[in-house]
Parts: sequence; C-alpha cells; structure tokens
Amino acid sequence: MTESTRQVSVDLGERRYPIHIGRGLLARRDLLDEAVSARQVLVVSNEVVAPLYLHTLQEALGDRRFAAVTLRDGEQEKQLAAMLPVFDELLVQGFGRDCQIIALGGGVIGDLAGFVAATYQRGVAFIQVPTTLLAMVDSSVGGKTGVNHPRGKNMIGAFHQPRAVIADLDVLDTLPDRELRAGMAEVIKYALLGDREFLVWLEDHLDAALARDGDTLAHIVERSCRNKAAIVAADERETGQRALLNLGHTFGHAIEAARGYGDWLHGEAIAAGMCMAAELSARAGWIDDADCARATALIARAGLPTRPPGDIGPERFREFMARDKKNRAGELRLVLLRGLGDAVVTADYPEAALTATLEAASHG
Ligand code: NAD
Ligand code: GLY
Repeated sequence: MTESTRQVSVDLGERRYPIHIGRGLLARRDLLDEAVSARQVLVVSNEVVAPLYLHTLQEALGDRRFAAVTLRDGEQEKQLAAMLPVFDELLVQGFGRDCQIIALGGGVIGDLAGFVAATYQRGVAFIQVPTTLLAMVDSSVGGKTGVNHPRGKNMIGAFHQPRAVIADLDVLDTLPDRELRAGMAEVIKYALLGDREFLVWLEDHLDAALARDGDTLAHIVERSCRNKAAIVAADERETGQRALLNLGHTFGHAIEAARGYGDWLHGEAIAAGMCMAAELSARAGWIDDADCARATALIARAGLPTRPPGDIGPERFREFMARDKKNRAGELRLVLLRGLGDAVVTADYPEAALTATLEAASHG
C-alpha cells in the first residue's frame, strides 16, 4: 500500500471488503491480484469509459482469461435488455461460477454489472471500479445492484456486495464538470443526513472540490465512503437506518422517471429532491427557515438545481412516489430533516406540508 492510498473497510463480517482510494490504482497489479482471485474475468464498461481506461485495467489484470463488453452510454441503458449482451458474452466465453465480473464505469455500469453478477449462474463475484465521483462516493459501495423499469427507478435488482472497490482518483480528470457536480449532490447528502461537521467542512472546501483539488477530492471520497460504510455495516438490507441514504431520493426518483431517464442526471434530481425534503421539513416546523436556506444554498453553490422541473405537477409526483421502495402498507415514507446533519425516515409528517411542497414545486 503506498502512502497516498487511503482505505475504508465495509465491515460485513466474512463478506467484509475494502474500498481503495488513491491515484494510479487502475494500473496497480498488486491491488488487482488481491481483489481478483479468478482466472476468468469479464469487464463491463461503456462506450465512453472503455476507450479511456479499459486498456490500463486489462494490462494490470495480467495473464488472466479476459473478456469485455462495452455497452452504450446513458441512464436509459440501465434496463433489463442491456444485460443480455453481458450474459451472452459470459456464455460464449464459457465462463463458470468461478469467474469474476469487473464493473468499470459510473453508477449505471456498476448497478447493471453488479446485477448481472448477482444473477449469472445464481451469483458470481464482482469488483467495482467506479469512474465517476457519484459512483466513488455512493453507488459502488453497499451492494445495491439493479436496473430501472419505465414505471420506476431501480425497480428490479438484488443486494450483492462487491469483493472490493477500487477508486482511482486519476480517472476524475476526464469527468465532465456537470457529472462532477452531480456527484457532489450525494456528497452533500451525507453531510445533511448525519454528518454536520462534514457540512461545515464542505461549506469551506466546496470551491476547491469543484476546482478538482486533489487532496480535497480524496478527503471527500474517503469521508463519504466512511459515512456510507458505517450505515451499510449496521443495516445491509435496509430494514432501518440505511433508508436515510435516500434523503432527496423519493422526490428525485420521481423527477427522473417523470422526465424520462437521462434527461436530468441522477445527482441533479437528488439535489432538487433534497431541497424539497428540506422545504417540507421547514413547512412541518422541524427545521427553521434559515437551516432550509443554508442547505439549499450549498446545493446551489455546487451548481445543482434547487427546484424540480415545473411541469411535473403534484399528481404525477404522487404517482411515482407511490411506487417508492420505502413505502409500507401503502404509506408514503420520506427521509426528512429534524436538523442539519440529523435525518429521519418517517410517514409521520403533516400531509398539508407535503401537499404545499408539491404544489410549490409545480409552479417552477
Ligand atoms: P453514469 O454511470 O451514467 O456516468 C455519468 C456519465 O459519465 C456517463 O456519460 C459516463 O459514460 C461518463 N463517465 C463515467 N466515468 C467517466 C470518466 N472517468 N471520464 C469521462 N466520462 C465518464 O452516472 P453516475 O452519476 O455515475 O451514476 C448514476 C447511477 O447510479 C443512477 O442510475 C443511480 O440510480 C445509480 N446509483 C446507485 C446507487 C447504489 O447504491 N447502487 C447509489 C447512487 C446512485
Ligand atoms: N444509495 C442508497 C443506498 O445505497 O442505500
């Protein structure tokens, strides 16, 4: 391990795994040898990421039997049909249960390749090599895998933990600014839901992060992964506190599905959704207006939307929100704020506050 490599552990007993964070990791044979025990490896990537990084990864995998599938880019590709060419390639190669799948890409590739790994021959091992900020701080960690259905986000999937996560910060150099900002939405999420100290730090360091200062990004990825790892270790299958990680997501998933996947980026939808959650919390009297404004201001400073598109309307919002996986017995459960850095999952909010929030949203 070099000095500059940081490591966070996701403590799931026998299924514990490391998250390696640092520079130049894609070319590190020692890390790949540690993570990839298989002699047969299939890498899933996409048409944007593969030309940039697949070769480096292939070299580092040495003389293992290697195959790769390059999918089309975009959230609209996170669907069941896009999994078929991956299953096809696994079968054409004759790969068995002892193969390993490597997801090389952002959250779309990680979620889809992870779901292939969860289901191919009833489950094979996989490694996450996240290449977006969002995937490094969130989607590559915790084992939620799956694809979208036109009627709802992430409606088809499985829990399947990776064996390791390798987050090479160098790959962020090619990430477009809009995607970096979308990743910041999930970073701000950790601060708002349970890490007030990180919130204060982010308020001081946001500009450096957006300017891609290396130490700042490394700290952001490590701190976010520590936050997520602690929650996942305590509640892997989301029977309780893991749902806190859904702050802004009930509204955000509705925005993504209503607009058509890929129109608003996931992080952008979550940013607007967190502002709606803060607004609802303020309308319920749980936080004061100044706290709501402070959360919204940080999201705005990150260059993210603070309001949903004005054309969805309360009824469409409710239609999509009714399919949210957190709902129980038909009751809409939301992640709301009782303070900055203090979120709760609850169905016990004033209905009038939700109605007012949805109506305000539909006025653009
Ligand atoms: P994405 O995977 O679509 O990647 C964003 C864009 O960046 C794509 O165009 C991609 O090709 C490109 N890209 C990726 N890496 C690049 C690089 N290094 N250089 C240049 N371009 C690069 O989107 P995302 O924001 O990474 O992930 C969003 C997805 O993650 C959503 O589907 C969301 O539901 C999912 N998600 C899952 C979890 C989970 O726990 N499983 C958590 C959060 C989000
Ligand atoms: N991104 C939500 C979760 O991993 O639970």
